[in-house]
Amino acid sequence: MRRIAHLSDLHFGRHDGTVVAGLSAALTAIGPDAIVISGDLTQRARRAQFAAAREFVDGLRAAGLPVIVVPGNHDVPLWDVTRRFFRPLARFRRYIEPHPFPLFADDKVAILGINTARSLTIKDGRVSREQLACIRERFAAAPRGARRMLVTHHPLVELPWGEKGERLEAAGRSAAAVEAALDAGVHLLLAGHHHRPFSGSAATFLTAGHSMLVVQAGTTTSTRLREHANSFNLIESDGDALRVAVQAWAEGGFEEAADESYRFADGRWHQS
Ligand SMILES: [Fe+2]
Ligand SMILES: [Fe+2]
Repeated sequence: MRRIAHLSDLHFGRHDGTVVAGLSAALTAIGPDAIVISGDLTQRARRAQFAAAREFVDGLRAAGLPVIVVPGNHDVPLWDVTRRFFRPLARFRRYIEPHPFPLFADDKVAILGINTARSLTIKDGRVSREQLACIRERFAAAPRGARRMLVTHHPLVELPWGEKGERLEAAGRSAAAVEAALDAGVHLLLAGHHHRPFSGSAATFLTAGHSMLVVQAGTTTSTRLREHANSFNLIESDGDALRVAVQAWAEGGFEEAADESYRFADGRWHQS
């Protein structure tokens, strides 16, 4: 059994300090095997915001929790044009994670992060050809029986949302990224960006995605909420069984608000 806490869109600089303190307490109590943070650690990529985000991430690492973290579009400077185009991820790399392809792997799980944030677009993401190759190579080297999880900020699968026909956009070159993920035997696609928690089989949205589960995290600590409270996902992977439980902020603490259970059989996910 492995328990992965999936956080996203922390947005330090526009965060709720009470929720951050509650989050640290909840994670310490849960003691997950690893923590994924799928981007947007800061609100505007400012130094003080990165310093606050680092203090939070350092606290987790000091508690012995592995953290797999990728940048989001908010972690690229917006107004500082020199930084935006010439050193877009310099601060993220210096304060949070120096490695462009962070990987955590043991015999039960293999988690790979790639960056989808780009300088040329304000909020859209993209996957590069180098990253497509990386997805195939890194997972090929992971233990055979490990549940494979790919982490991006922008989702790789476009999702319909709500009753008004809204669509939650996927990253550019997402079709090729999905193909690479399928080749690499990826089982879970973890992302954020849209501030809406969700999980479901990719086969609902793709013709060839049966082996993958789409898991979106809401915003864990930002005060900029859409229709959902602050939340993170707790993913429990136990053999062929997998549970995604949304931990939502309510009355001073994180509480389990909803959960979905899945079983992997015959090369595909079944809801159970
Ligand atoms: Fe965000
Ligand atoms: Fe974002």
